[in-house]
Amino acid sequence: MCGIVGYVGPRSALEVVMQGLRRLEYRGYDSAGVAVISESGELRTAKKAGRIENLDAELALAAGQSDDADGPMAGHTGVGHTRWATHGAPNDQNAHPHSDATHRIAVVHNGIIENFSELRSGLEFAGVELVSETDSETVAHLVAAELDAGAPGLAEAVRRVCCRLQGAFTLVLLDRDHPETVVGARRNSPLVLGLGEGENFLGSDVAAFISYTKEAVELGQDQLVEISREGYRIIDFDGVGVEGKPFTIDWDLAAAEKGGYDYFMLKEIQEQPTAVADTLRAHYLDGRIALDEQRLDSSVLREVDKVFVVACGSAYHAGLIAKHAIEHWTRIPVEVEMASEFRYRDPVLDQQTLVVAISQSGETADTLEAVRHAKEQRATVLAICNTNGAQIPREADAVLYTHAGPEIGVAATKTFSAQVTAVLILGLALAEARGTKYGDEIAAEYEALQAMPALITETLTVIEPVRVLAREIADSKAVLFLGRHVGYPVALEGALKLKELAYMHAEGFPAGELKHGPIALIEPGLPVVVVMPSPVGRPLLHQKMLSNIAEISARGARTIVLAEQGDLMAAKHAAHLIELPVAPTLLSPLLTTIPLQVLAAEIAQSRGFDVDKPRNLAKSVTVE
Ligand code: G6P
Repeated sequence: MCGIVGYVGPRSALEVVMQGLRRLEYRGYDSAGVAVISESGELRTAKKAGRIENLDAELALAAGQSDDADGPMAGHTGVGHTRWATHGAPNDQNAHPHSDATHRIAVVHNGIIENFSELRSGLEFAGVELVSETDSETVAHLVAAELDAGAPGLAEAVRRVCCRLQGAFTLVLLDRDHPETVVGARRNSPLVLGLGEGENFLGSDVAAFISYTKEAVELGQDQLVEISREGYRIIDFDGVGVEGKPFTIDWDLAAAEKGGYDYFMLKEIQEQPTAVADTLRAHYLDGRIALDEQRLDSSVLREVDKVFVVACGSAYHAGLIAKHAIEHWTRIPVEVEMASEFRYRDPVLDQQTLVVAISQSGETADTLEAVRHAKEQRATVLAICNTNGAQIPREADAVLYTHAGPEIGVAATKTFSAQVTAVLILGLALAEARGTKYGDEIAAEYEALQAMPALITETLTVIEPVRVLAREIADSKAVLFLGRHVGYPVALEGALKLKELAYMHAEGFPAGELKHGPIALIEPGLPVVVVMPSPVGRPLLHQKMLSNIAEISARGARTIVLAEQGDLMAAKHAAHLIELPVAPTLLSPLLTTIPLQVLAAEIAQSRGFDVDKPRNLAKSVTVE
């Protein structure tokens, strides 16, 4: 949801900012733009609708036409933006950076300024001409007005404006008249500071500056930072100086590069054994399960009598798996809810309720607001997150980090597997806290979990037939996905992957529900993917699922059956059989999801789509 970069230092600001934008493009790709303060002290801007390549072409054209030996965008202070459109169509005019009338200020913005109509009307009333339809442009004019009214410097002008803004925003700004600084501010949207030697960086996330430094500083809610070559200064929106929270980035540049794969997603699918293994390794120490951060008394977890899981997208599917594990291992009732629905229906929460918020990015606005609602109702919040220090873990009472590393492909793959791993760890942690399992039982479950990375690797080595099949069904009108028990969330995840990547009609159903309506969709040749329960682990369900396959086969469906090795009955019923290693039922989604990720990626490629950047989507969505 919009990527932002800021730089001040001895390097070419254009180069640093463009590289940052390429690394942040997963956050939005409706348009891209950059502004620098040139050597001659002018504010120079270039922006273009569409992907960053369009901006590259625009910059090359401008360089060709310039009389300036170093090109028109030479300078050492700059900002950049890659957009996921909210206010205003994704065209050149609405692309960021935006400027004031005198072209003194450049601003890039992520989020939504909710009182923008009122602010815009005020500006128009004062005779200001706005050239875009965005909420962001208002900020440039308001900051310029504060400077005209005598604000002592850009930081103070921005602070005053921030106090008038409602909603979610990260802002990064330049002032032509003060080329030695860049100012950033944040409320509800992310911004991190990168610390270099004689140079400093701002970014929506650390990927923006990972090629230059691993030293970073977290910025808190309602805070503003001013960076220069020499250092930085943080204040809150009341103007009081605050200390940032420094941290060292624990992954390498290689993690943010494709490493020989055509798409990040393909690399990230292959990284799943490591993501699961690293997540497991971090949370079992000296025979006990360890959370990463715990700002609560351990008696709180012991006394929990109800769990809500709130999440969006793929994280929601991980939540559905959590329900099975937590209920089975602890006997605590669990409800799973889409975060966007949660707070608007007044859920019944109290001090004994544990709300588990699952979010890869830790910044999804729907999930963040669900967390805030839960806290207002005095529930305990535990976050499962892949991004160190993001807003959701900061506001939670306890945190369990997934260790999947950066995920650049918009569709979640390795972070989903890490989330599934994390919810299983959480289930065991609750069982341990409540004493519903003995220590040796927990150790045995953990051992089974520790065997999963090797089984995922095995699954990845037998995936070729899925690719072949994907190419065969790439022109189908639709694909249905059926599952039961933990196979149902996997079916939903398979359908979501196909929808978002291949733009195909895809739906996941509980297999037993099919006969109550969706079976009407079956027509001869329609591919139906069936996630088969284990004949040993869930014999009754296995039996029922065979009947469901028979029902759809009788109506001409082309059945693609994911079954565990040695499942002879499934083999008999399947038009296409995908055999997977044997795993305990609750852990099996770590295997069954993988062929579905590959299926979606391969179909998308066959249909000629960009697997990493599906249309209309953004990886993290910081608006409700
Ligand atoms: C977006 C992404 C999804 C993701 C969801 C939740 O919609 O496109 O892939 O699952 O957000 O993201 P989160 O960062 O909260 O896990």
